[in-house]
Amino acid sequence: MIICRILLILIVSFTCLAYADDNKNPYAIASAHKLATQAGEQILQTGGNAFDAAVAMSAALAVVEPYGSGLGGGGFWLLHDSSTNADVVIDGREVAPLDATHDMYLDEEGRLTGQSINGPLAAGIPGVVAALEHITKHYGRLTLADNLQPAIKYAKEGFTPGDHYIKLASLRQQALLASPAASDIFLDKGEVPPHEFVVRQTDLANTLEKIAQQGAKGFYYGDVAEKMVQGVQAAGGIWRLEDLASYSIEKRTPIKTDYHGIEIIMPPPPTSGGVVISQILAMLEQSPVLDLNDAESIHKVVEAMRRAYQDRAIYLGDPAYTDMPLSKLLNKQYAQDKFASFNQAKASTSESLAKSLTSKGEDTTHFSVLDSEGNYVAATLSINYPFGSGFVAPGTGILLNDEMDDFSMSGGVANIWGLVGSDANAIEPGKRMLSSMTPLFARDEQRTLIVGTPGGSRIISMLALALINYQQGANVNEIVSQRRFHHQYLPDEIQFEINALTEKEKTTLANKGHPLKEMSRTYGNMHAIIWHPKNNKVEAASDLRGEGLAVIQ
Ligand code: GLY
Repeated sequence: MIICRILLILIVSFTCLAYADDNKNPYAIASAHKLATQAGEQILQTGGNAFDAAVAMSAALAVVEPYGSGLGGGGFWLLHDSSTNADVVIDGREVAPLDATHDMYLDEEGRLTGQSINGPLAAGIPGVVAALEHITKHYGRLTLADNLQPAIKYAKEGFTPGDHYIKLASLRQQALLASPAASDIFLDKGEVPPHEFVVRQTDLANTLEKIAQQGAKGFYYGDVAEKMVQGVQAAGGIWRLEDLASYSIEKRTPIKTDYHGIEIIMPPPPTSGGVVISQILAMLEQSPVLDLNDAESIHKVVEAMRRAYQDRAIYLGDPAYTDMPLSKLLNKQYAQDKFASFNQAKASTSESLAKSLTSKGEDTTHFSVLDSEGNYVAATLSINYPFGSGFVAPGTGILLNDEMDDFSMSGGVANIWGLVGSDANAIEPGKRMLSSMTPLFARDEQRTLIVGTPGGSRIISMLALALINYQQGANVNEIVSQRRFHHQYLPDEIQFEINALTEKEKTTLANKGHPLKEMSRTYGNMHAIIWHPKNNKVEAASDLRGEGLAVIQ
């Protein structure tokens, strides 16, 4: 175990592999930022369980990874409680404000105005604080004040930006400049800060203190709520105090499927990953992928992705507002019938697939944590596009999300992820926007995988690839470093990370008729733990594409 930590420093490969002592059960943590991992470890070492650690890490990430998640955003926490052997999803997804309207982001010509991405009109009503209170109260062992302490310290003392922060602040500089409170905190006199800059968040520390003292009420009511609503309205947004007061988390039953005998546990709608991954795996179980390292397999996998993402676009939305044929969509035979049109020699076209629409990363974050009692959590959290809407309500330190862009717009207009959707995911007051966030567990008698990643619409395809790899025996490092390719039905193209495909593979795929789009960079930031309960062994890894840290004990 000690060697693992030394290796961490020496080879800068954030991968650990350890066997526990005979008399000690292991724990493991992997997250997108070393300060969040350290927050989780501190909580586990001072008597907290995995659920307390999850709360501490969510709050810490809100401070030190402001481009990925935050108190002004939402997320999905997938929990396994070893005392009851139960899995549950805590849905802290944002909802549309009560004054939201169907076409609020379209101009007279039906084009997107940009207000679904930048500024306070883009912000849904945040769910993170309600979720953290719920998880602490119902599953944790410590108090919310205990669990928020590391985040409060990071907000007060500050942190120095890494390469990722600097790159994303540069991408979002204009949006941040439009909000003086955001610019004061996240930029250095209006410029992208250098590495030695200290990002101190005094207002956010005060807001966190208030939540520590008063619970979620300190956020959804009173002084903080009033400042958020005033700030949003003054800058052209539509939030009301009633929006905040009426927010509530949803406790959901996970989707469970199996893939070659491995049980896969994932969140249901309003996130789409559980349904789409179930379909992809059902198609590929019937028509197995032998090796992810050849063009014929890539062709098969992207054709399964194409067909499953089509159903995402047509059917999925918030279950409180939309009737979804979930039992059909989760039926393996349905998926396998859908795959009957697959042709090994030739690409399908998305246009040719039956049924049309009925109408008209680097964002986000993830962590995985396992405690020594066998409780575990996978959580994916987001404020959507990097630095969310770029808007901070003055005096609160809360950077607001731009998740409203995850709703489908009228007339098949694509969102920032290139996704289209139907009325199932149209904007309605109080409705949750469809997500792709998919924290997941995969387990059989031998191993339990606790995994997830940011990456917008590509979250789902990254995890499908991870599961194919895992089923074929990959270790934790191979899972997070798997090269990535993606198909999401529309646009009709295979997207892949820079340099991910060989020239030969590209030629084979192009000859089959696939349009190819090489991205200008890598994507995703996967954090995984594999627990081998029978021999008390754990493995943990943080994706080398990011700046995270995995630790084990
Ligand atoms: N905002 C990204 C997602 O929820 O899928």
